[in-house]
Amino acid sequence: MLLATIFFILAGVAGAQDQSPKLRANVDGLALTPPMGWYPWNEFGQEPQNEKLIEEIVDALISTGMKDAGYVYVGPDEGICFSRGSDGKLKSNLERYPSGLHGLGDYIHQRGLKYALYTDAGTNTCSTAMPGLKGHELEDMAAFARWRADYVKVDWCNTKGQDPAQAYAKIRDAQLAAGRPIVFSLCSWGEGKPWKWAASVGHLWRTTGDICAPGKASWETAMKNTAANEKLYAAAGPGHWNDPDMLINGMDGLSAVQNRSFFSLWCMMAAPLMAGNDLRKMTASTIETLTNREAIGIDQDPLGIQGHIVWNEGQAEIWAGKKLFDGSQAVLVFNAGSTPAELHVAWPDIGDAESAALYVRNLWTHRTTGPHRGGIAVRVAPNDVALLRISKSNAFPLPPVIVADSYWLSFHAPHPGKQKLTGTIMVKTTGSSELPLWKVRLGLPAWLSVSVSKHGKQQTFTNTVRTAGLANGRYHAIVRAGNVEPLSHLPMSALYYDVDLDVGGTEGDHNGK
Ligand code: GLA
Repeated sequence: MLLATIFFILAGVAGAQDQSPKLRANVDGLALTPPMGWYPWNEFGQEPQNEKLIEEIVDALISTGMKDAGYVYVGPDEGICFSRGSDGKLKSNLERYPSGLHGLGDYIHQRGLKYALYTDAGTNTCSTAMPGLKGHELEDMAAFARWRADYVKVDWCNTKGQDPAQAYAKIRDAQLAAGRPIVFSLCSWGEGKPWKWAASVGHLWRTTGDICAPGKASWETAMKNTAANEKLYAAAGPGHWNDPDMLINGMDGLSAVQNRSFFSLWCMMAAPLMAGNDLRKMTASTIETLTNREAIGIDQDPLGIQGHIVWNEGQAEIWAGKKLFDGSQAVLVFNAGSTPAELHVAWPDIGDAESAALYVRNLWTHRTTGPHRGGIAVRVAPNDVALLRISKSNAFPLPPVIVADSYWLSFHAPHPGKQKLTGTIMVKTTGSSELPLWKVRLGLPAWLSVSVSKHGKQQTFTNTVRTAGLANGRYHAIVRAGNVEPLSHLPMSALYYDVDLDVGGTEGDHNGK
């Protein structure tokens, strides 16, 4: 009897464990490289977060080349965008967001970007201007799914008495129940040590406090966040990232050199790259920094390794340990001090044989030298970096960056009966090699079929809708496609888009406000 009881308890525990995935990203294939995008908080705080601002930022993401460089997730942070009605349900703040939160998502998706929203695990958000999820996890996550969010940041204010691991796991379960693939960004500022447990819950977790107060970029805090995040390098990998907070590039307070160093450190740490500046008024130097494909290639490397300090003396540091998909490695020489530093990077210090003949590419000057034997001498000005890629070959390929013309297709069949409609989604990679053909997952509804064709770096998803047998009404499907990186053969983040079909109704009005 006793044995039977013990077996029952053990079986129960194993059963409970089986329900939570080892890696959240195994469920949805999302964020297999660190998420990139834009959030308003660092520059704007709550003001003036509204529909106009977000739409102007969306347009700026496209016109400045940020979208083509890989920045894709965008939306309000604590932007007073919803409240809780007397029926307990979330509703959009139509004064700030006249198209409603569904309409804002449509604007974003139509332009080939992904929709990021924000909430809090406690009773209220930090300023208390918005309701938190506590006690409403299922219905709030259902609302986020209805609004078609692709990314949700969940803050940790007003959580007295709550345990981070339990609270965030409950939110994960609510997200999975809502049935929409969502990148889950945990924001407990390191509380509860999420690097120890959150890989099964979400895709990224903040490791530190805020990098700055709104509008006030701070080099000192950035250095503090770097030091705290660097130590946690073993916890990061594809689909589970340490997040030392959003970028402060392009804000007042950092010099051009500090901007470049800051960006290099974030790339070296495989940190999420969520820009936080006003993209509508960037200097040429800020754009050049934020869109440096070679630096971004280090961040977005498919192996997903976080680099770390392997040598330091005074305030001069050598960062390594970041092998890249083509067999090369990234090395960062950082001079945090106020006088120039002269360093020798010896091949054995970065794990290579003294006798190796290696090419060195400088990712800010875009020049390659070598082959060098033994090591190289590097001179770095105060607060500056040398961000290097070191390889046996001088090819230095860039990993894929996926850019789509749209993530939303909307079909309208004026009446029921047999009709055939088609629409396309175009996807290209701005990396250096061509991708294999995307594979669409099975399980689409009977009214939708998708075929993919390839022309070099561009692929076309042709969507065919057949309305035969469908009654008047609205239909919705999410298409999921997978691919592998061509050199490493590692899986890439899944690609999702929405397809709407409206049979017999009036186009364009959404119930989801
Ligand atoms: C916390 C987060 C910030 C931002 C604000 C909003 O401080 O860490 O990134 O979202 O809340 O109030």
